[in-house]
Amino acid sequence: MKHILTSDQFSREELLEIFEEARKLQEAAELPQIMKGKILATVFLEPSTRTRLSFETAMLRLGGQVISIPNAENSSLNKGETVEDTGRMIDIFADIIAIRVPKRGQVEEFSRQVTKPVVNAGDGTGDHPTQILLDLYTIWKNRGTLDGLTMGLMGDCAHSRVLRGMARMSSVFEMNYVFISPVELRMEEDVKRLLAERGRGVRETISLAEVIGELDVLDVNRIRHEYFEDQERAQEIGKQFILTKEMVLKGRQQLIVLDPLPRINTVLPEIDELPQAKYFEAVENGVFVRMALMKRMLD
Ligand code: NCD
Repeated sequence: MKHILTSDQFSREELLEIFEEARKLQEAAELPQIMKGKILATVFLEPSTRTRLSFETAMLRLGGQVISIPNAENSSLNKGETVEDTGRMIDIFADIIAIRVPKRGQVEEFSRQVTKPVVNAGDGTGDHPTQILLDLYTIWKNRGTLDGLTMGLMGDCAHSRVLRGMARMSSVFEMNYVFISPVELRMEEDVKRLLAERGRGVRETISLAEVIGELDVLDVNRIRHEYFEDQERAQEIGKQFILTKEMVLKGRQQLIVLDPLPRINTVLPEIDELPQAKYFEAVENGVFVRMALMKRMLD
């Protein structure tokens, strides 16, 4: 497992091993300083708060160090240096590279330029495997299993790397899916094809109210307005997918609500105190999942 590029590169066994390792680290009385002498480079050419800080926290808490390009404006990319040349430089300095870029497929291209292991921390509308890992780990920790669960994926299924990635990664388990999105923002065919190949049930609807009672997990992501020409339309659609406390209470008692955040017309703060709300717990879990993953990549 050299590079982590996509959500469908993991087998079921690999996922369970990563989850076990993350849990071990999370339960340790003291964190092992296994990253001593190692340097993580975080290269974020698209906005980020959680993902970058989570990677950096994971590295620092395991005794390693961090160097960072926190935004494109601050680097020679702004002077016109290519991503390829930037990659060659970072390769000289770091032992492991977490990178976010604006275009789908661009992390993969980048990974071909470097010798050090690369983690995709988001490539446009493409994928975001560590976000999915931490959300799946959160479900696994709370439910003890992933098999047999029905998962709702709600919002901008067309552009959300998180919703796309979640369907792809989780489908090595025996899960069923309901995609909840406006008709023009439906899940792409490549994802549906993978789920069909893996024999997973899929339904599509525009109405959460219709399906809320059937869900074990509801993963929501905002309408990704950055991909819209018509910003007013993005706003208008966004408002149709706000998740209220009233709606959550109509669901099963064991429902798990996830949101990669930021919450822009997604989970209302009135949900935060409900036991169903697991999005902040997921942020905490994410540090340990990234520790487990980086350990595996450098082993
Ligand atoms: C997500 C992302 O960047 O894809 N955020 C994150 O990494 N926690 C979701 C989003 O921006 O909507």
